[in-house]
Amino acid sequence: MLQERIADVSKFVEPDRVRREVYTDGQIFELEMQRIHETVWIYCGHESQIPKAGDYYTLQIGRQPMLMVRGKDRKVHVLYNRCPHRGNMMCGDRHGNTGEQFRCSYHAWQFHHDGTLKNIPMMESGYAGTRVNKGSPELNMKPAARVESYRGFVFASLAPTGPTLKEFLGKSIVAFDDMCDRAPGGEVEVVPNCFRVIQHSNWKLFMENQIDALHPSVTHQSTGRAAHEVEKQIAKKAKAGEALSYHMLSAFATVTIDKWDNFQTINYPYGHCILTGYMGLRPQDPDTKAYDKLMIKAYGQKRFEEIVGVNIHHVLVYPGLSVQSPLQQLRAVRPLGVDRTLTEIWHFRLKGAPEAIYRRSLAYYNLVNSPATLINADDLENFWKCHQGLSSDGGDWVSFARHHGHDIEKPGEVSSAPNQGTSEAPMRNQMKAWAKYMTA
Ligand code: FES
Ligand SMILES: [Fe+2]
Repeated sequence: MLQERIADVSKFVEPDRVRREVYTDGQIFELEMQRIHETVWIYCGHESQIPKAGDYYTLQIGRQPMLMVRGKDRKVHVLYNRCPHRGNMMCGDRHGNTGEQFRCSYHAWQFHHDGTLKNIPMMESGYAGTRVNKGSPELNMKPAARVESYRGFVFASLAPTGPTLKEFLGKSIVAFDDMCDRAPGGEVEVVPNCFRVIQHSNWKLFMENQIDALHPSVTHQSTGRAAHEVEKQIAKKAKAGEALSYHMLSAFATVTIDKWDNFQTINYPYGHCILTGYMGLRPQDPDTKAYDKLMIKAYGQKRFEEIVGVNIHHVLVYPGLSVQSPLQQLRAVRPLGVDRTLTEIWHFRLKGAPEAIYRRSLAYYNLVNSPATLINADDLENFWKCHQGLSSDGGDWVSFARHHGHDIEKPGEVSSAPNQGTSEAPMRNQMKAWAKYMTA
């Protein structure tokens, strides 16, 4: 049955619209886990999450429970979180330190940090004459087929072949360069731990929304307007710069739909996308000036201007990552089921930057991206309502027709046209990549 339907998957996607089953069909979900999430490069975490030998973090790649661990040789390994004996999960905790080795909680088989077998209790007497011999590869914890790291950001692919991480990221690699370059020390460090949100909708609704420049001034209008009122009151009384946190929220109302059209989306192969535009977060307050001074000292005036002048609001690394590099925020998408999606929301410290600059990133994290903020709640409500509507018989198609036919195509990129920043080009680009993966 599934095999017959695979041939049909491409019929679900047209250049400017897709069938609703793409979001709601359980069999299509299984196939996308296999052909997309369990094949491409998926973000595991940042190296600074596991600084010491034996430190580990568990995570999900597609349907596979995995763990990322630091070895004694300082190497980062990504392994299936499964004991080769009888299948017990090796690490039940979200994160921790496994000590000198992994030791399964069921029958005490032990493994080195790279997953190779270290010891089985009473191996000689228990397994003499059986198929179990020390050294056979099936006695090791299975590693991810490929693991690569870029500027501290660790990715794994469960497929042995395919593009390298750099080839896969292409132009979207700017997300990690922009984030790290903004640190006087050239590196970022993760802030433990992350927020976790489970949304009751398909994972693709999240990815589409991240670069949906049409929605903020509508969906988040009430939140933005209220914040703008407070911002104005503070600005009357206090020194400039003190209302910056409110500005992060008020921008959702003051940047109206027509202004969002001034921004631009640039779409790349594999479904990646960059949304340009910068929401006025380069004020001239004393904290920013102190930071600028450190940056100029580290990089020189010319390079400093280049770094802080990078015009990015958001980078989408399809299918599993949304990065806001100028504010050091990152959201990793972990699909749990056709109608359930986990997002991990992380933020980072710029090494060598003043504490006040970190506080700015923390404020954005709490005010815009956390589960507590109304901004996130606004989006979550839409995600749930979309999934409900798409599960109904009220219509068969999802429309991505806005500005279709007007995008500017060059080899290797498709940009929204001038003053068409709210084009649905990013959604069309994602679904194009999706169809390619699904029919590969
Ligand atoms: S299941 Fe792990 S040692 Fe038995
Ligand atoms: Fe939103």
